[in-house]
Amino acid sequence: MSLLDATWPAIRRAIFTLDAETAHERTLEALASAPRLAGGALGLMGGRGPDHPVEVAGLTFRGPIGLAAGLDKNGVAIPVWAALGFGFVEVGTVTAHAQPGNPKPRMFRLQNERALINRLGFNNEGSQALAARLGTLKTSGQWPDVPVGVNVGKSKITPLDDAPQDYVQSIERLQGLADYFTINISSPNTPGLRKLQGQEHLRALLPQTVAAAKGTPVFLKIAPDLTDEAISDVVTLAVGEGLSGLIATNTTIRRDLLQHDPDEAGGLSGRPLHDFAANRIEQVLACVEGRIPVVGVGGIENAEQVRRLRALGCAAVQVYTSFIYEGPGLPSRLNRQLSE
Ligand code: FNR
Repeated sequence: MSLLDATWPAIRRAIFTLDAETAHERTLEALASAPRLAGGALGLMGGRGPDHPVEVAGLTFRGPIGLAAGLDKNGVAIPVWAALGFGFVEVGTVTAHAQPGNPKPRMFRLQNERALINRLGFNNEGSQALAARLGTLKTSGQWPDVPVGVNVGKSKITPLDDAPQDYVQSIERLQGLADYFTINISSPNTPGLRKLQGQEHLRALLPQTVAAAKGTPVFLKIAPDLTDEAISDVVTLAVGEGLSGLIATNTTIRRDLLQHDPDEAGGLSGRPLHDFAANRIEQVLACVEGRIPVVGVGGIENAEQVRRLRALGCAAVQVYTSFIYEGPGLPSRLNRQLSE
């Protein structure tokens, strides 16, 4: 057991005395104040585990376990995630306009079920601020040795019909500063956003984002709450429009997966999501038929689940909620277990 794993239960007890969002903010602030130092120290305590390089959309991920979008929305602690053993890192969601997100409280721990519900609503400093931060990371030599993707969403104030321009503006600002882009049309917390998963909107949105990315791979992140037919339509369009891959899935609006529903609106993530997400990922893989890579995400918390999704055909996976519960030693532990 690493030092990181040994000390985590006590640290988690302390962190979990705070409400979910305050805990998240304080931890990120601490890491962001000295990301290289924090990364170095955490890396020493836990190691990052063995490398398991995978090729995805022309990029080399150092390993198949990535950090999912939403944890480091503003890209403030990127070197830390790489030092902990994540093989690729996705920051964001960022939007063209900086925005505060929904009123608090908006993030809830369901500890007994190892789940979270959030309705943050894309609180972020905007794509301009992220571009400046990523630029500094590049010029100061702190860019990590793993790919960094940027997840892009629609600003709340932008009408749905103008969505393409909102996404394109962010991508243009971030050009040359992201190893890949993810088009997020699947958050349940921006009114109307998931309508962009409909054929008509996608047909307008996808070609414009691919053109704006100028050869940088573009992924599309989809919700688990799509029907088989909708998944099939999305996949056909994504492949046809030259998308580099799909990320499945985002959080769910379902509540019947929970033993105890706290009656809070938002997206559900973590353990209760896993079987449902895995089922939707299988459906995505069946439609994709190997034409573009699929990154699996949703309630993944152990190496067995990673192996199963990879055996089904996922090129890589991402985690968020299990990282909150299992702590910073999770990615290196999974990397070690994948070698066994
Ligand atoms: C998320 N997720 C998310 N996804 C995204 O594309 N953009 C975002 O800004 C966010 N924000 C966010 C905040 C919080 C608090 C959570 C818990 C999740 C979704 C996340 O990336 C992932 O798709 C789901 O959470 C499912 O994976 P896990 O958490 O079950 O491993």
